[in-house]
Amino acid sequence: MVTATAHGKINIHLGVGPKREDGYHELATVFQSISASDTLSLVRGEGTVSEGSPVVGMEVSQSVPGEVPTDSSNLAWRAVDAVVEHYRGEHGSITLPQVTISLFKGIPVAGGMAGGSADAAAALVATDHWLAGEYGLDPLGKRGLHDLAAGLGADVPFVLMGGTALGRGRGDELIPMMSRGTYHWAVITSNEGLSTPSVFAKLDELREQRDDLEPHMWTERVSEALSSGNYGLLTACLRNDLQPAALSLRPELRTVLQVGFSQAGNSGIVSGSGPTCVFLCPDEEWARMIAAAVPAEVPGTSGMVVSGPAGGAAVVD
Ligand code: C5P
Repeated sequence: MVTATAHGKINIHLGVGPKREDGYHELATVFQSISASDTLSLVRGEGTVSEGSPVVGMEVSQSVPGEVPTDSSNLAWRAVDAVVEHYRGEHGSITLPQVTISLFKGIPVAGGMAGGSADAAAALVATDHWLAGEYGLDPLGKRGLHDLAAGLGADVPFVLMGGTALGRGRGDELIPMMSRGTYHWAVITSNEGLSTPSVFAKLDELREQRDDLEPHMWTERVSEALSSGNYGLLTACLRNDLQPAALSLRPELRTVLQVGFSQAGNSGIVSGSGPTCVFLCPDEEWARMIAAAVPAEVPGTSGMVVSGPAGGAAVVD
């Protein structure tokens, strides 16, 4: 019925403040969307439903390893349901065809690059496009989609919007940022993912024991580097407050960063909550070289090359 894509993200700067009462941490983060993307289609089934979820199943194919749930715990499934609920709330009972979600994953799974959030964002725009078109109803629009996205997860609003943005609050209060040029990244994924809540919890634990893990909530230098388009300046700004926690839970990531350092200098960080590590490179060829060199020396890792910024979630068909 409809196909949409959404891109993954890299946190160029991830400043993590104290834990809030709602369990989330206050963030000051600079997101860049990247060329790696997932594609999601809603496929019409045989039967119809007049209440509850129209989704009856999910099929996943992937270019990246990792386990993806194919039941109603998948964020994309929940995103379809959230849009359907919204339309039913606005327009009363609607009888819908049963739907299967078909998902192709090109973003690393459980890798700190918002792959699951991108699937949710693609599902939001796809379902909105389908329901508005098929039933002649008012589409949700930017504001409505943003609100549903924020209800699904802290990273979903950014991958919905794409580009480059400052994220405050849980990471879902977004201000678009000016960014000049294209940035090339070597991305080193690990065969085994890391759970985001456990990395945030580890940071809280480490901060109780150490006093050198203060939050980095200032992003002015990143903003200047991005508007200059100077790769070297941006390299000097890369920061991730979650990195010590990710390294503590997965010490072998130190080897990834060390091997990358010998090839790429000081341009590597853990991406988001990890375990993916990213290296900012002067050009695509350099990124290819690092994406091949690191996995050759560190077992259990793979390399890919991406560029950014890319766009937001969009219907393609
Ligand atoms: O919103 P989402 O479900 O993607 O977040 C996953 C988990 O990551 C949260 O349950 C929380 O443990 C942690 N998190 C956080 N502070 C943020 C974003 C995420 O503590 N700003």
